[in-house]
Amino acid sequence: MERTKVIDLLRREDYGAEVNVKGWVRTKRGSKAVNFVALNDGSTIKNVQIVVDVNKFDDETMRNIATGSCLSVEGTLVKSQGAEQSVEIQANKIEVYGTADGYPLQKKGHSMEFLREHANLRMRTNTFGAVFRIRHNMALAIHTYFHEHGFYYWNSPLITASDCEGAGQMFQVTTLDLKNPPKTKDGEIDYSQDFFGAQTSLTVSGQLEGELAATALGAIYTFGPTFRAENSNTPRHLAEFWMIEPEIAFMDLKELMDLEEDFIKYCIKWALDNCMDDLQFLNNMIDKGLIERLQGILKDDFVRLPYTEGVKILEEAIKNGRKFEFPVYWGCDFASEHERYLVEEHFKKPVIMTDYPKEIKSFYMKINADNKTVQGTDVLFPSIGEIIGGSVREESYEKLTNRMKELDMRLDGYEWYLETRKFGTCPHAGFGLGFERLILFVTGMSNIRDVIPFPRTPKNAQF
Ligand code: 4AD
Ligand code: MG
Repeated sequence: MERTKVIDLLRREDYGAEVNVKGWVRTKRGSKAVNFVALNDGSTIKNVQIVVDVNKFDDETMRNIATGSCLSVEGTLVKSQGAEQSVEIQANKIEVYGTADGYPLQKKGHSMEFLREHANLRMRTNTFGAVFRIRHNMALAIHTYFHEHGFYYWNSPLITASDCEGAGQMFQVTTLDLKNPPKTKDGEIDYSQDFFGAQTSLTVSGQLEGELAATALGAIYTFGPTFRAENSNTPRHLAEFWMIEPEIAFMDLKELMDLEEDFIKYCIKWALDNCMDDLQFLNNMIDKGLIERLQGILKDDFVRLPYTEGVKILEEAIKNGRKFEFPVYWGCDFASEHERYLVEEHFKKPVIMTDYPKEIKSFYMKINADNKTVQGTDVLFPSIGEIIGGSVREESYEKLTNRMKELDMRLDGYEWYLETRKFGTCPHAGFGLGFERLILFVTGMSNIRDVIPFPRTPKNAQF
């Protein structure tokens, strides 16, 4: 008999039909005579109820039907008596594919920490099922948005010899014998003998290569894994995360901000339009304000705020008695407490902050006429802080190389990148969205470790 997915089965009304469903047992309850089994196959947050007449099945089968076990059930589709579901299945034949003695996820309400230790199984809980269905939907929304707006999906390499953000937070990639690496005459490690003939690392951003593509294809986006060896043990940082990086020729600062806002609203609307069952579950169980907060994002225009204005607002707040842990002064890099004050308390809506001091931003950002600030943008979100970082790029070869020299960056190794500025340079801009930060926002989960299947964080690469 052909298998029906639970999501399709729950929409059917052809009572009396013989059906087959397969899935994992969430719960079993009932009496000596009749048991009710909640079966879930991952196609939806909802379970299908299987009504089991105990007398029809042998003792071993009844014993093996337990939380975590996997079943194939054939039975009759009937209208449900209970209010929770419209249909249920009266079981005629049950095959136990897999028993689950000692299954660790027995009771409801396991802590997130406990579930992280069982990340190999946690996808089978309602919460993580919802999170990962939403994660899939957000990926689909992102590809659809860019495709519909004339962007090409394009891929940057993951292994690279350059540090895009210049922050030195890179994981080295090497096949050299770490116990006995080859040395040059000066006693340095001789990377010419390494696999790639140079010192290489995992990429912190695909932007530099993305810029090359934008100056050929016009508008591209990357969507791939990104690696940062920053020792930040926070609920917002991963050592391996996914980033979406569009890069667009002939785009200025205003158009960049318009794109950031339109894009992120599209993703959130997609979730509201396509993931309501999962969102409702998360709204009930994880974060009571979730759906309202998502709808709120769509209502308002984002605030567009130059950094210098932001400093003034924070200084004013301090004057009026607001306390912050970190000091505020022109030139400081805002801490998340400052960003959250602006977004959650002062404006009560997302803020796109622009025109940062050049000292706290990356080398490639376009320098303003004041020669002090750059055309960088951070999109700041409630409860998340920075969700997008982007900028207009410095397109002048001279200004860009001067800035790199000021920062003591070596130009050799970046010739391939600098050639975009030598040959037909053009104004262009782009941004990076942290995929997991978007998922955090859309699901209402509070720790970034719980929106990626197997988180990579300092001292943790389990699974
Ligand atoms: O602001 P970032 O560092 O910007 C770039 O990498 C640029 N090259 C992007 C571009 O213009 N093409 O990172 C972009 C976003 C951040 O806003 C944040 O959402 C996310 O990536 N991000 C992280 N997410 C999880 N864990 C980390 N350690 C992250 N670091 C950055
Ligand atoms: Mg940033």
